[in-house]
Amino acid sequence: MEKAFQTLFAMSIFKQIEDLKNKAEEQIQKIQTQTELDQLHSSILGKKGELTSILKGLKDLSDQERREAGSAANETRKEMDLLFGNAKKQIESLEIQQRISKEKYDALKPIETAQGHLHPVTAVQYQVEDIFSSMGFRVMDGPEVETDDNNFGKLNFSEDHPARDMQDTFWTEDGNLLRTHTSSVQVRAMEKLSPPFRIIAPGRVFRYEETDASHENTFYQVEGMLIDRVVSVSNLIYIMKTFLSAFFERDVKVRLRPGYFPFVEPGFELDIHCLLCSGKGCPVCKQSGWLELLPCGLVHPNVIRAGGMDPSEWQGFAFGMGLMRLVMMKYSIEDIRHFLSGNLRFLKQF
Ligand code: DAH
Repeated sequence: MEKAFQTLFAMSIFKQIEDLKNKAEEQIQKIQTQTELDQLHSSILGKKGELTSILKGLKDLSDQERREAGSAANETRKEMDLLFGNAKKQIESLEIQQRISKEKYDALKPIETAQGHLHPVTAVQYQVEDIFSSMGFRVMDGPEVETDDNNFGKLNFSEDHPARDMQDTFWTEDGNLLRTHTSSVQVRAMEKLSPPFRIIAPGRVFRYEETDASHENTFYQVEGMLIDRVVSVSNLIYIMKTFLSAFFERDVKVRLRPGYFPFVEPGFELDIHCLLCSGKGCPVCKQSGWLELLPCGLVHPNVIRAGGMDPSEWQGFAFGMGLMRLVMMKYSIEDIRHFLSGNLRFLKQF
């Protein structure tokens, strides 16, 4: 190549490099995102980029010019690297800012966690407690391991009373037992409270027996006892009807049939008008129109006496309901064994 022409050519290469740098500077200003910046970088400085194609012209220059143009190109590349580096940092911090401005922390928003709830038997127990509390009953508790005396003796089951065989009992090695009914709390109430009083005692009881759809070896009862100077069967019926109507949220008809329990005289089985067919007769009440619900009666004078009161002064009524049976009726549950099965699919329905 002619010397003069070579020089001209070299100048044009310098110019091109200079233009490229200006162009890069100008375009970088407009760029908003990392991707755009990467694209611009490879179109200018990449292997197939504009700088590479400009430098292809170097081969036609004289040695000295090639050296000069080469070092000018390196210089420019360094400057541009710096430009791109700064732009990258700026875009990064811009992107972080944008992300933060979109993220909102709302201190009032409830934290979403998996929430548990009460077991249906517990929920119904609380409901029963509320209704009886509103009628002046206090809620009492007693131990699950009881003495023979509290579970049987003071409730008028004599030593050789055949009624002791009515309930199969779990005995402990020291001669105590797992209470077979919450009636044991009647005895504790009479010892602890001075008459007149009204109590209910919800709690867990145990029977040594085969399980089936309506029998469990571990189940829940709610005992009730009212002691006052004059107490009649009509008081008992009134309280039971008021409770049942509040619990089932409708008017509930009841009837009494004779029933035998050593600690009451007279003793009854209380039935309610079938809730499903309202007494017309259906499979649930076996066409009878009535459902057997709970045993009750007037407290036996021997029990009053064993409780430290004079039966000529004090009278009372008592009742014992199956708490699980109440839940089963309220929610149409067909098998008592669901309750303690630990089956979450069952429990989550409530
Ligand atoms: N304790 C009896 C049982 O578990 C139920 C019972 C019957 C309780 C009559 C009472 C009552 O208070 O008066 O079988």
